[in-house]
Amino acid sequence: MKILTAVGTRAGLQFDFEEHLIGGACIDAHGIPIEDITLKACQEADAVFLGAVGGPKWDMLPGHLRPEKGLLGLRKAMGCYANLRPAKVFPALESASTLRPEVVRGIDLLVVRELTGGIYFGEPKTVDADCGIDTMLYTAPEVRRIAIVAFEAAGLRKKKLISVDKANVLASSQLWRKVVDDVAREYPDISLEHMLVDNAAMQLLRNPAQFDVIVTGNMFGDILSDEASMLTGSLGMLPSASLGGGAGLYEPVHGSAPDIAGQDKANPLAAIGSIALMLRHSFGLEEEAVAIESAIARVLDDGFRTLDILSDGDTLVSTTSMGDRVLSVLNGII
Ligand SMILES: NC(=O)c1ccc[n+]([C@@H]2O[C@H](COP(=O)([O-])OP(=O)(O)OC[C@H]3O[C@@H](n4cnc5c(N)ncnc54)[C@H](O)[C@@H]3O)[C@@H](O)[C@H]2O)c1
Repeated sequence: MKILTAVGTRAGLQFDFEEHLIGGACIDAHGIPIEDITLKACQEADAVFLGAVGGPKWDMLPGHLRPEKGLLGLRKAMGCYANLRPAKVFPALESASTLRPEVVRGIDLLVVRELTGGIYFGEPKTVDADCGIDTMLYTAPEVRRIAIVAFEAAGLRKKKLISVDKANVLASSQLWRKVVDDVAREYPDISLEHMLVDNAAMQLLRNPAQFDVIVTGNMFGDILSDEASMLTGSLGMLPSASLGGGAGLYEPVHGSAPDIAGQDKANPLAAIGSIALMLRHSFGLEEEAVAIESAIARVLDDGFRTLDILSDGDTLVSTTSMGDRVLSVLNGII
């Protein structure tokens, strides 16, 4: 929040903030994981910035009362059908990945995952003792709208889009490929390539730096975005955006990290990176978004680390101190 306020002040903009409860905090206060008044406020906002939900205190509750239900309800109410997960390896963190530094060097990719269709939602979906059925279903309008998000995102980056499907086997993927090709005609400056999902999973480990933007369906995106995110070293580094008809929803990829909660140890860079995505995708403030990402890179270059990304020779800092350092560099840039 302090980063966003600083950007606003410097850009001559005033952000109006409203705070609402979700998850465990809302269960404690009101007995349910999210209130209608919150859903309405989020639908009416220009953008929503979300803290993670959940924790052991609420794990024993029945499914419909659990904190995670509040988040699913919020995503549904906001119609967020496009999940954007960037995975960027900052030069100072090349050795934090499980892959060799020369393999992860230069990784700066974005997975655009379709979030509300595909096999997770298709009907029929049944299971009995002998048979389990899921249905992989995509309609042309569903594919078209996610393809547009991906082409637009590629336009803000290196203009290279790879669409991932399984068109050699799946009928829904054949439709996917045709619709993506149709949308491509509206974006002649973006280079489009199709890749089968098994090859994409392999290429992400073999040569991840070849990717700029990946667009794919719900299940393939679920798997590939987790694979891509682990290239970068820590969950505490990964921002996300979920876009739909109205306001965007911005949140770090990680959960509430209950094992370190309240100790001023968590890495705030995923949350700060999510603010950069908000400025870029909801407010069109690209320069300010880049300034935040550059400030994060500078602080890492200067050797400051929270515990999750600490190596020999680095300087250990708290959550608060990391945020203050990014803020102070940012104030020098903008
Ligand atoms: N979007 C969300 O709100 C969301 C996402 C995932 C999990 N959850 C919830 O969070 C709770 C904990 O789940 P989990 O433990 O599986 O996942 P988690 O992401 O909270 O934590 C996994 C591990 O990563 C570490 N970690 C996470 N974020 C970090 C950060 N910013 N800095 C440093 N270390 C960090 C944690 O300490 C932990 O060791 C559960 O209740 C789960 O349902 C919520």
